Amino acid sequence: MLKSFLEGLDGLTLECEARRGQACSLKDLESLRVEFLGRKGKLAGAMGALAQMGPEDKPAAGKKANEVKNALVALLESRQAELEALAAKDALSGFDPSLPGRRPACGSLHPVTLAMQEICEVLTGLGFEVVSGPEVENDWHNFEALNMPPDHPARDMQDTLYVSERMLLRTHTSPLQVRTMLSRKPPVAVIAPGKVYRRDSDLTHTPMFHQIEGLLVDKNVSMADLRGTLTAFVRQLFGAHTNVRFRPSFFPFTEPSAEVDISCMLCGGEGHVKGEPCRVCKKTGWVEILGCGMVDPNVFASVGYDPEAVSGFAFGLGVERVAMLKYGIGDLRMFFENDVRFLEQFS
Ligand code: DAH
Repeated sequence: MLKSFLEGLDGLTLECEARRGQACSLKDLESLRVEFLGRKGKLAGAMGALAQMGPEDKPAAGKKANEVKNALVALLESRQAELEALAAKDALSGFDPSLPGRRPACGSLHPVTLAMQEICEVLTGLGFEVVSGPEVENDWHNFEALNMPPDHPARDMQDTLYVSERMLLRTHTSPLQVRTMLSRKPPVAVIAPGKVYRRDSDLTHTPMFHQIEGLLVDKNVSMADLRGTLTAFVRQLFGAHTNVRFRPSFFPFTEPSAEVDISCMLCGGEGHVKGEPCRVCKKTGWVEILGCGMVDPNVFASVGYDPEAVSGFAFGLGVERVAMLKYGIGDLRMFFENDVRFLEQFS
């Protein structure tokens, strides 16, 4: 009986030693004290056995109980000193261990990336395949093969950034039409998303922006196919009620060429919102969204396609413009300032 009594008391000391470190506040420590040394605590519980002991065992048992009590008190007091020292240090450094932790900041996709992804998703859904090519391009792919010989006046439409006499930063994604047709036989149906560069910088132009080029070549492709494809595309992108109109236009690499307007997504084509002139379409009810046309026979000739055997259409659209229309952004510069308060709205 004495032996198990003594062992039980040693066990208490060991247990207290193991658990004192888990007390991280004075409150924790007080609970621990009550658990071990309180009136109904573990030590008091163990002492209950003392009453049933014979007179020969009592002195040794009592002595041990006193030692264990002192040991427990010492263990708890030393932990109290440790906690007080830590608290004093935290108070000095201003660190409050009871505050919740900080979440790591999580980024989000840029609105231009989102618009790009969405456009590509719709077009790949229609059967187009994504291709890419170099941003540093040569004169031939960017201009000449696209029916813009060196002295062609259309070159003035684009302020080119030259890297050397023959190399330049591509001014549009249209060179991907050329690269695709050079490396593949018809039929082709591709889109080429990417960055383009122009020597232009003001409220509505930035030296770098994003375009998506589209090209479809096959036997018997007609203007009706172009219209049907682009109508399906803008309706998926901007909503099923979107109307489309084609305005005659000019691009050197397409003939005939057109610019496509869609009914304004803000005023629904009315030209006004609650009696106020619509700020997106400037009262016209239409907004321009892309350029397109039937591939010019001269372009087919540059890449070795037979214009008698195949026909095709091409289109090109500005991604920033789509993002502005889709997300209702009024100022192009927002995309490039990288103000977190702006970017966070797209997470
Ligand atoms: N490359 C033209 C530009 O940057 C956009 C464009 C217009 C592309 C008509 C085309 C097209 O493929 O058919 O202004």
